[in-house]
Amino acid sequence: MKIGILSFSWHGKKVAKEEVRLVRVAKKMGHKARVIRVYDCQLLYDGKNPKVLYQGKKFPKFDIIIPRPMILMNVDLHVSIIKQFQLMKIPVVNGYMPVMRAKNKLRTMQILNHEGIAVPTTIVLKDDKYLEDAVKRVGGPPVVIKTPFGSYGAGVVLAETTMSIKSAWSFIKNNTAAGMVLLQEYIKDANGCDLRVFVIGGKVVAAMERQAQEGEFRSNIELGGKGRGLVKIDHQVKKMAIKATKVLGLQVAGVDIIISKKGPMVIEVNSNPGFKALENATGIDVAEKIIQHAVNYAKRYKARNG
Ligand SMILES: Nc1ncnc2c1ncn2[C@@H]1O[C@H](COP(=O)(O)OP(=O)(O)O)[C@@H](O)[C@H]1O
Ligand SMILES: [Mg+2]
Repeated sequence: MKIGILSFSWHGKKVAKEEVRLVRVAKKMGHKARVIRVYDCQLLYDGKNPKVLYQGKKFPKFDIIIPRPMILMNVDLHVSIIKQFQLMKIPVVNGYMPVMRAKNKLRTMQILNHEGIAVPTTIVLKDDKYLEDAVKRVGGPPVVIKTPFGSYGAGVVLAETTMSIKSAWSFIKNNTAAGMVLLQEYIKDANGCDLRVFVIGGKVVAAMERQAQEGEFRSNIELGGKGRGLVKIDHQVKKMAIKATKVLGLQVAGVDIIISKKGPMVIEVNSNPGFKALENATGIDVAEKIIQHAVNYAKRYKARNG
């Protein structure tokens, strides 16, 4: 099978290590695979079929494309390339809409809450006139303040006093598209710990507990968090992670789950989750499982669509 790993790395910058690894693993499994770069793609609209040119020439043939959209700004514009491939009848893992939903934390909370999946109490507000009331409603201070588009823990702030809430809120608001900020209940009992549950094709394939480093509440590995592989995963957590990916429409996802006194809650669903730290913590070959899923999906897609 011909597999394309779609890299969103900036022109001139190296592609991500995990993208290279996906190519290597796919080749080891007997497939043809290569990284394709968004920066070398051109979208062509000429009244005929929707097209993408690659480096100014005809787009190479792929049976499946795995996008790795690690972008945080102008997400809708960047990921429209994924939609273009779907219009060209190339199967993708993950698709455009699920990626859009997952990249936007506001949209994620909206869907999860609507589908009855527990999330920390969250209020989205634009005007600081309502800030004091909102802080009370989420049980603060302290509160967690988040940009709708953020990753690696950047854009997630713990504000502990009324004064710091006001200043952090207005700073994030002024640096966020549409000036919409998430104010969230701080899950103190988690103690800087959460779970990263990796779901592929509706099944949990691996999970780890992440512990933030000393003096930090964010458990992101990029911020020095340490991962510990989980051998047994709580049934409720498993069910929750699977349902969260299902309602967002993601085939491959990393679900962040925090355990509060009230039970587990989903804080985020990642549509291009890293897997290196998870592999190190669990010894599970996650890359192989991603490729295997993509190949099976491409076969099913072909059988359905010819
Ligand atoms: N409401 C919260 N209460 C306590 N800790 C939180 C809360 N929200 C996020 N965190 C911590 O911050 C980390 C980053 O938050 P997250 O929403 O996943 O943003 P990012 O997309 O940057 O990873 C989480 O993994 C968790 O450790
Ligand atoms: Mg996260």
